[in-house]
Amino acid sequence: MRYRPLGRTGLTVSEIGFGCASYWGLPRFDEGEAARLVHRALDLGVTLFDTAPGYSRGEAEPRLGRALQGRDLDHLVIATKVGTFHAGGGRTGRDFSASAITASVESSLRRLGLEHLGLVQLHGPAAAELNDDLFAALERLRQRGLVTAFGANSFDPAVIAAVIAAPGLDVVMLDYNVLRPERGPLIDAALAQGKGVLAGMPLAMGQVDGQIRKLRSLRDLWYAARALKNHRHEVALAQRFAFLRDLEGMSAAQASLAYVLEHPGVSAAVMGTTRRAHLEANAAASGLILPPDVRARITAAQPR
Ligand SMILES: NC(=O)c1ccc[n+]([C@@H]2O[C@H](COP(=O)([O-])OP(=O)(O)OC[C@H]3O[C@@H](n4cnc5c(N)ncnc54)[C@H](OP(=O)(O)O)[C@@H]3O)[C@@H](O)[C@H]2O)c1
Repeated sequence: MRYRPLGRTGLTVSEIGFGCASYWGLPRFDEGEAARLVHRALDLGVTLFDTAPGYSRGEAEPRLGRALQGRDLDHLVIATKVGTFHAGGGRTGRDFSASAITASVESSLRRLGLEHLGLVQLHGPAAAELNDDLFAALERLRQRGLVTAFGANSFDPAVIAAVIAAPGLDVVMLDYNVLRPERGPLIDAALAQGKGVLAGMPLAMGQVDGQIRKLRSLRDLWYAARALKNHRHEVALAQRFAFLRDLEGMSAAQASLAYVLEHPGVSAAVMGTTRRAHLEANAAASGLILPPDVRARITAAQPR
């Protein structure tokens, strides 16, 4: 596993991060299996684990906390989010007030069984919510020694640009994968500002690998339904990248991760998986270089 600095935070992260969200966190996915994936990730050198209070209907954070119990946390960066929460019945609530942010970090620490978080990110803020009260609350959390670095997770280009410009935020998490080359210039801008960049959805939610078409189990149906609900137009777009499934020496998922990590501004690709074989393949993508002809075919297939 290779490691990269997380911008100017002073933190270093494995370039493949583990997203503790979605199906991984749901009770219908076996707790033992979920924990074994975390432990295997640790063995493979993964040091970045990303979660949020609202992920998996509120179940992902406590599950990650249980999986980490008794483990050496010294070199890990445990990242969670603030501003959103599971409001019951599968609904997501949002509150970016200073008091809610403070309470959210305190609750996350309890649920994760930690005394300190490496990274806390605002989860989908509006640009107008990035105000002085909010930044003061974040700074107080930093001064209390509860959090090392702050960032924001957004898929809205205007908000991402505002986050990159905000002096109180060190990291931005955005949606970057072969289907989203338009994020490249934003990552260039983040790099120029010394901000760390985390690429969420680096596998385009499994679409490039054709994963969501292989309906082998309930979890595959769950992922397919999510992709069709949230990213229907990309399911068709992903077909243009079918050639990645026939490469010599790397799988489509590995090529997708290599593409994301090729950008020097990306600190880590944070992938989600519920399968050990996938986790191992994804970890092995660290250090892979895309052959120039594959790179050219990706560029040719990307939307203009
Ligand atoms: N999606 C979002 O809206 C979002 C938003 C903010 C942050 N994030 C962060 O980004 C992380 C990753 O996002 P994500 O899980 O939505 O998307 P992703 O990592 O791009 O894709 C996950 C999908 O890819 C499949 N997959 C993983 N490894 C594979 C491999 N080697 N070969 C084939 N298929 C593979 C997974 O299925 P298997 O389980 O079968 O491996 C799953 O269906 C999240 O956990 C979270 O931390 C995501």
